[in-house]
Amino acid sequence: MSRTKQPAARTRSAPADPIDVSFMYAVHDAFQRDLDRLVAMADAGDAPGAALRAGWDRFTTFLQVHHTAEDTHLWPVLAGRVADGAVLEQMEDEHNALDRLLDGVDAALSGPAPALAARAAELAQVLTAHCDHEEELALPLVQKHLTKDEWDAFGAEQRSRLGMGGAATFFPWLLDGAPDETRRKVLGIVPPPVRLLYRAVWRPRYERAPRWQTPASA
Ligand SMILES: [Fe+2]
Repeated sequence: MSRTKQPAARTRSAPADPIDVSFMYAVHDAFQRDLDRLVAMADAGDAPGAALRAGWDRFTTFLQVHHTAEDTHLWPVLAGRVADGAVLEQMEDEHNALDRLLDGVDAALSGPAPALAARAAELAQVLTAHCDHEEELALPLVQKHLTKDEWDAFGAEQRSRLGMGGAATFFPWLLDGAPDETRRKVLGIVPPPVRLLYRAVWRPRYERAPRWQTPASA
C-alpha cells in the first residue's frame, strides 16, 4: 500500500521549527518502501527466498528499534506535558497492534503463499495508517512540547540500540531508493565519519548482499 500523497522527499520542517523531524519522515518512508516490496513479493506467490527473508529481518529490526525508542523517549516525555493524552494512548495502542501483525507475518513466512499475502497486506494497511496518524497527530505535539535536547536523546537512543554494526546496515537501508533530497538531508545531518563509512563501505556491502528491491526481483 503506497502512500502516494508524498512522492518526493519529505523535508517538511521549516527553518523556524524548534525541532527538525526530517529524519522521522525519512524512516517512515523507508518502512513504507519495505512494505511495498513485501506486499509485491508476497503477492507474487513465490516461496520466501533469501531476498525476502533479508528484507524482512532488516525491516522488523529497524521498526522495533524505532518504536521502542518512541515508547521510551517520546510518548512518556510528552505525557507529562499535554493536557489530553488520547493521542499518546493511540500511539501505544497502534504499536501493540502492529506487534501482533508482525508476529502474524513471521508465522506466515513458513506457511502457504495466500496467507502471507493477506497478512502482508494487513500489516501494510495498519502501519501506513499508523505513520500517517503519528505525523498528523503526534509530531505536532513533539514540535510543540519537546526540547531539542529531548529530541536528540530520542535519536541517541536509536543509535545506541543499533550500535555500530546496526548503523552499517541502517544507513544504506534508510537511503535505499530514497529521493536525492532525502539522501542529501540525511547525509548532511550525520557526522562526517558516518558519511564516509556509508559511501566507502556500508552502501557497497549492502548492495552486494541479498535484499528485496523495487520492483520485486527475487
Ligand atoms: Fe515514528
